[in-house]
Formats: sequence, structure tokens, C-alpha cells
Amino acid sequence: MVNVFKRLTKSLRLISLKKSEDFFLKQINDEKIPVHVAIIMDGNGRWAKARRLPRIAGHRAGTKVVHQIVEVAAELDVKYLTLYAFSVENWQRPKSEVSALMGLFDKMLAKEIKELHESNVKFIAIGRLNELSQRLQKTIEKAMRLTEKNTGLILNIAINYSGRVEIIDCVKQIAKKVDRKELEPDKINEETIINNLYVPGAPDPELLIRTGGERRVSNFLLWQIAYSEFWITPVLWPDFKKINFLKAIYEFQLRERRFGGLQ
Ligand code: FPP
Repeated sequence: MVNVFKRLTKSLRLISLKKSEDFFLKQINDEKIPVHVAIIMDGNGRWAKARRLPRIAGHRAGTKVVHQIVEVAAELDVKYLTLYAFSVENWQRPKSEVSALMGLFDKMLAKEIKELHESNVKFIAIGRLNELSQRLQKTIEKAMRLTEKNTGLILNIAINYSGRVEIIDCVKQIAKKVDRKELEPDKINEETIINNLYVPGAPDPELLIRTGGERRVSNFLLWQIAYSEFWITPVLWPDFKKINFLKAIYEFQLRERRFGGLQ
């Protein structure tokens, strides 16, 4: 009897969720879908703690959400989705959590890449990848090579990433070009920087989502978010659903973006 009741309430919840998703899908203007959405996926640890589970259980639950959000982003025709999976600062976490996370990235990528490829997704890992384990580097290289010609959603996963380090790496590349006399220092402009970031020429994210309620940028895409719209939700990443993503897009479309101008 208890089980029947549980199943019934779950079905009712799913029906009402589907209705809310349809509501937002209808409200969303197809002409104003952000080209680039970036997400700081925060709250896995708190999600696990609330359930008296180890932190890695939160990260594991988080991978399932990654799958769903990639699907909905592709469905909406978002062109770039950039997800913050591991920062250079995250190495300071306990060794056991770091190695479990690295194992999870490897496993998830190896498992999902076929489906990503079939869905025409182009996978790109950004960050100081040469500092990752040989095994993970190989999985990443394989995934990037397999999907490099795909023309659908461009999925950037930031691993061992830091916005400041990206700028340092960009400056180093530019300095080398100057050294080789391929570039005149006086000609360096915004375009030069954009073309030497980890994903050369990518448009800035119009929308930056942060789950887990914190109000900070955490060293993510520091150059690229100059005029991004920031959307923060208290929802923890493992609880983040299609409906939350749709709501973020809908609310983004209501924002008036002035880029420092007046109108
Ligand atoms: C932040 O939550 C989350 C991370 C450091 C890891 C994010 C990883 C995933 C979502 C898993 C898989 C992702 C990919 C792309 C394969 P936190 O641990 O800081 O949470 P807390 O603030 O509640 O402690």
C-alpha cells in the first residue's frame, strides 16, 4: 500500500514537472536563445552531506545531471555549453576526493562519448590538461579527436581550469608570436586575446549559471564573462533539472542587456 502511494505521488510529481517544463518551453523565445551558456556546477558536497553520504556520491549524482543538461541545451540549440568540473584550486581537496573525481571524469567520458558523438556534440576539454593523469589525458584526447568534426553543440568541460591561468597561457602564446615576429605588440587587441584563449574565437557566454547559491565567480572564464548575465540558484547541482535550466533561459530573455550603454 505504501509503495502504491509512493509510486502515485511520484507519477503526479512527474506530470506536474512535465507541465512546468512545457510552460517554460512555450515561453522561451527561440530567436533569443543564448549562443553560449556557462555553468558553475556547485553543491555536490552539500547534497551528499544532507543524505549522510560521502562527497563522491554527490559528484556521482552530479554526472547524471550533466547528461540531462547537455540534452536540453542541445534541444534548445544552444551552440556552446561550458561546464566547470574541476578548478586548479580543487587539488587542495582531500586526496581521496580528488582521485575519486578524476576516476569519475574518466569513467563518465569513456561511457558517454559514443552517445555525445551520435548526438553530433563536439567535446572540448579546457584547462591545463598536461597536468592530468596520462590515463585521463588519453581518454580526453580520444574523445576530442572522435568528435572534432561534429557540428552540433560544442561542449567545453573545464578540468584543472583557472581563469587566471587561461589568461597567463594566452599571454605566453601571444608573447611567443611576438618573439617569432609574427605579431607586432602595437597590434595586440581584444581579438588577439580571444583568438589565443583555450577555445580560440569562441563567443563570450551571455549567461552564467551558478548552482548551490554562492555569489562568486570562483576563477571561471574571467576574460569571457565581462558582460555575462549572472543567474544564481540555491538548487544544489545534483538537484538541478531541465526545468531549472529552462527557467534560467527564460529569465535571461527578460533581462535588459545594455553592455555599459544607455538604451
Ligand atoms: C562543486 O561542488 C563540484 C565539483 C568540484 C565537481 C563537479 C563535478 C561534477 C558535477 C561531476 C561530473 C562532471 C563532469 C563534467 C564529468 P562542491 O563539491 O564544491 O559542493 P559543495 O559546495 O556543496 O561542497
